[in-house]
Amino acid sequence: MSVHQQIKRVTTHVLQEMKLRGDKIAMITAYDYSIARILDSTEIDVVLVGDSASNVMAGFETTLPITLDQMIYHGASVVRGISRALVIVDMPFGTYQGNSKEALQSAIRIMKETGAGGVKLEGGAEIAESVERILSAGIPVMGHLGLTPQSIHKFGTYVVRAKEEAEAEKLLHDAKLLDETGCFAIVLEKIPAALAGQVTASIRIPTIGIGAGSQCDGQVLVLHDMLGITQDFSPRFLRRYHNLFEEIKGAVAGYITDVKDMDFPNEKEQY
Ligand code: KIV
Repeated sequence: MSVHQQIKRVTTHVLQEMKLRGDKIAMITAYDYSIARILDSTEIDVVLVGDSASNVMAGFETTLPITLDQMIYHGASVVRGISRALVIVDMPFGTYQGNSKEALQSAIRIMKETGAGGVKLEGGAEIAESVERILSAGIPVMGHLGLTPQSIHKFGTYVVRAKEEAEAEKLLHDAKLLDETGCFAIVLEKIPAALAGQVTASIRIPTIGIGAGSQCDGQVLVLHDMLGITQDFSPRFLRRYHNLFEEIKGAVAGYITDVKDMDFPNEKEQY
């Protein structure tokens, strides 16, 4: 029996043990209570309340507009629905960059007001001071390197990162730094599989990949993408497990027809 099948509550220590044993870590995003309840009936290891909520929940083009209050709202809703997985909440843009004291205050608010098990921050050396200060309060931190969507205006595009040697070297250095600083895991987004494999082999903590190949210690997908609720986002790394857009559309069309035809409600569906 694998480690994750034996435990009642996933902690950062469990994830570390999974890496050592070679058990893969499955992480997925969620933003609300009802979906969290469904995820809680599975063996998902980590639920990420991603700032991708800015895109899939609120319809913004980037992750930049979402606020700390909004992330706390989503985080607390998810935590209420999860009893087993480790829940991690993204720190939104502007709440931790360049000011480690504000970073700590933001992280404390997330932990106090959501009940989550940790926070995720994007970046390497440039946010090391914030990471260190948050860790000093006993708050578990997940890193995020490679394509970091909060820096989209710096990158200009969502293409694969770290294909050039200099950027790959910086990424490897940042990963080691986050490991040494005390992060418990690192998300690697949209980087070459070989580089992700090198990072995974070079650090003690688990790597969770999204578009970073099979050698990572775990994988993460945005729930709305893998369920086919979103339609206009089709990167090569995305495997769709469902086409919920069409299923929901079909169900709503059926409901409209039944209402118009006065087939709903029927005798049994009224008082
Ligand atoms: O916000 C998010 O959903 C994320 C994942 C894509 C890793 O950061």
